[in-house]
Amino acid sequence: MKARMALRGRAWSSRKLSFLFVALSLTQTPAWSQNPAPSDSEVESRVDSILGQMTNEEKIDLLSGINFFDVRGIPRLNLPVTSTADGPIGVRNDGPATVMAGGISLAATWNTDLARQVGQEIGRDARAKGKSFLLGPGVNIYRSPLNGRNFEYFGEDPFLASRIAVGYIEGVQAEGVSATVKHFLGNNSEFGRNTTDSVIDERTLREIYLPTFEAAVKEARVGAIMDSYNLTNGEYMTQNGYLNNEVVKKEWGFQGIVMSDWGATHDTLGAFNGGLDLEMWSGQFLNRGALLPALQQGKIAQATLDDKVRRILRTEVKLRWLDRPQLDPSVPRYNQQGRQVALQAAREGIVLLKNEGNILPLNKNKVKTVAVIGPDAYPAVPVGGGSAQAAPFRAVSFLEGISDHLGPATSVTYARGLPTLGMVANRTSFSTAETDGKPGLTAEVFDTQDLSGTPASTRVDQHINLGSAIDLNALSSGEIDLSALGRPRPNFIRWTGYYVPENAGTYDFFVQQGGFGDSGFRLYVDGALVRDRWNFDIAIVDWLGLTLTASPHKIVIEYHSGAGFLSPRFRVGIMREGSWVEDAAKTLAGKADVVIVAAGFNPESESEGWDRTFALPPGQDELIQEIAVLNKKTIVAVTSGGGVGMRSWIDKIPGLLQAWYPGQEGGTALAEILFGETNPSGHLPATFEKQWDDNPAHNNYYPATGSNKIEYKEGVFVGYRGYEQNHTQPQFPFGFGLSYTTFKYADLAVKPAPGGLGDYQVSFDVTNTGKLAGAAVAQLYISDGHAAVPRPPKELKGFAKVFLKPGETRNLSIPLNPRSFSYYDTNAKQWHAHSGTYGVLVGSSSADIALRGDAALAQDVLSK
Ligand code: BGC
Repeated sequence: MKARMALRGRAWSSRKLSFLFVALSLTQTPAWSQNPAPSDSEVESRVDSILGQMTNEEKIDLLSGINFFDVRGIPRLNLPVTSTADGPIGVRNDGPATVMAGGISLAATWNTDLARQVGQEIGRDARAKGKSFLLGPGVNIYRSPLNGRNFEYFGEDPFLASRIAVGYIEGVQAEGVSATVKHFLGNNSEFGRNTTDSVIDERTLREIYLPTFEAAVKEARVGAIMDSYNLTNGEYMTQNGYLNNEVVKKEWGFQGIVMSDWGATHDTLGAFNGGLDLEMWSGQFLNRGALLPALQQGKIAQATLDDKVRRILRTEVKLRWLDRPQLDPSVPRYNQQGRQVALQAAREGIVLLKNEGNILPLNKNKVKTVAVIGPDAYPAVPVGGGSAQAAPFRAVSFLEGISDHLGPATSVTYARGLPTLGMVANRTSFSTAETDGKPGLTAEVFDTQDLSGTPASTRVDQHINLGSAIDLNALSSGEIDLSALGRPRPNFIRWTGYYVPENAGTYDFFVQQGGFGDSGFRLYVDGALVRDRWNFDIAIVDWLGLTLTASPHKIVIEYHSGAGFLSPRFRVGIMREGSWVEDAAKTLAGKADVVIVAAGFNPESESEGWDRTFALPPGQDELIQEIAVLNKKTIVAVTSGGGVGMRSWIDKIPGLLQAWYPGQEGGTALAEILFGETNPSGHLPATFEKQWDDNPAHNNYYPATGSNKIEYKEGVFVGYRGYEQNHTQPQFPFGFGLSYTTFKYADLAVKPAPGGLGDYQVSFDVTNTGKLAGAAVAQLYISDGHAAVPRPPKELKGFAKVFLKPGETRNLSIPLNPRSFSYYDTNAKQWHAHSGTYGVLVGSSSADIALRGDAALAQDVLSK
């Protein structure tokens, strides 16, 4: 059977019939939108009329938020207060909502229709809560696996990220909610995010870091952009006139609102003239007291003020916030439609990375005992930490998903396998002196950040386990007194004590932190400084192994935490390597037919505000290694926002799945994949390296000592562009993902398309050559061997996800345009494709190219 079909746009997908049914039932037009949308000129004339009635005081009031998450209204003019909500994985504020699979999981689906449906359900949930702005999607490029917010974002490739972002934004905005694409720009790591300066050359900006924002503006017509905390090329983003004004507003023609990240504004005139329209969460800088005199003194222009107000009004009029209540009582808060979309997103996002001897899918009728082991098995870990951590009404853990799938006929056993880090901190015993000391450590509390002078007080602490991870949901729901926010609660402490190991051996020392705010620590063991994170905390859980003798060892920990919210977490624990794994887990593993190890991170080890380690959290490598020895049928499912260190166990296990943060329905999706009810179809949206040192950004990821500059020296060679350029073999390449069936690619045709020089239509056949139905992710890369500048060996310029029955063939067709062939020419300030021949490569991953053709340009093509 061979069907021909042309693809609309660049990506298309076909899914299971069941999903088609869901899709059809979800694309009904929302009731409120049955009146025709106002035309651009209608919007503009209404905006002009409102603006004409406003005083300058009222205009200025509109430029800043109130109540932490609201945008002001003007009752005299019937302008309502409008509300914002995080974003981007579910509508976090004001109670539970549907929690989707994280952004990187959505990108792993390579399914733009699904991205649109996810956006639409999040938009519906926003309406059910009366929210006008959804603070998402987050689209910062995955430059390193360490970035604590990768789980929110769409991976390392700007083309894939753009397609997913456009789908998501269109979905949100179809519900009458403004999406807010964030975090603009250069916020590709979380350590020191308030003070670091991302130094990125113009070509790299244009080719790697700007395109997703550009697509959000030009294609999806996103309502708002959020400026990030950091500086880029020497200027805070909230006052970066080049990027906000010249690029976004003038070049791209952005008509919407540039809003600040929460508390990211630093200067009145800088922000006002540097392109910021809306200061969130409050008007510390954009307020009457500062702006009225500036206006009178000619430091700011009336036209600029009017332009900012116009942008806010335009969004309000266009999305009809002035014409109807934003709260839509017809949308159920506990959203069954949303649940189905969340489930489908989880199914399509999970990536099968290893399937030795076809151990998967497991046969439900043959497996009698399954042991589910590991810290991410239960409770569910639907999402990472920070402002994205929406709370679901309920979430299906991997343990529950597997057990529910199998029912009572199969014995599903469970052990966490490892103590929690909090338990380890509380079990770690110290003594105040080398001999005859009291239990605990001496804590000297100082008034000064550098711990100089005499301590203000001294006490004995049994353990180091202070504060808590921040609960943003409690904060923004009014559970906590907001007036306490921003009040500094500094901790300047030095702990001194002795640790006496029972046996000689290697010991893991960890420091786990949490909460937002600038902090740092130093760890000394026997007088040697073994960890210095005084100026930059680089990981929320930071750890190292040290060899100790069975005698007292002096431990000194110095800690400062500045003006953080509430009481930030700080805990320290020590555990002997080889003693992490609990006996119960070993017993269960030995007895089971098959073991599923749920390893990975969680909101307290991978979160906004912090980076993370490449290594799995303490004890987890050991857990996988020991379980793999006890049971040859050990399958690992990793919960993380990106690549993790797997060298110590990858060759010892037959099965590996990347589960990302799979959202509230993750357990159901994983069980369906393990037992073959769903054929996995996720493909990696980021390269997984063997070791962090292999990453193209590794050598310049951190600023040099004493500097705040993060130099993006790898330039455009980010992710697979860099691995291929450097001839570094990754653990798993970009675009990779296994299926339970096989696909064959054939009959590549590259034909010029109507439109002009550089427009092509690329078509080819994909056949399901296996025995099971499944989805292929066909990827189209362009290679340029003749440009005037160094270019990556190949770059993704098109893709299509297609669902095929066994034996079925489809002809896919993917368009290319001049931009597909171009690099950004910084002299011409345009996109430039040189005349000559380009490789057109089609395959199932960046490293598995099945078809090769070419496209020849008769002359240079320059485009905007
Ligand atoms: C985050 C944003 C978020 C905002 C409001 C900030 O800390 O960086 O992504 O939208 O808080 O919660």
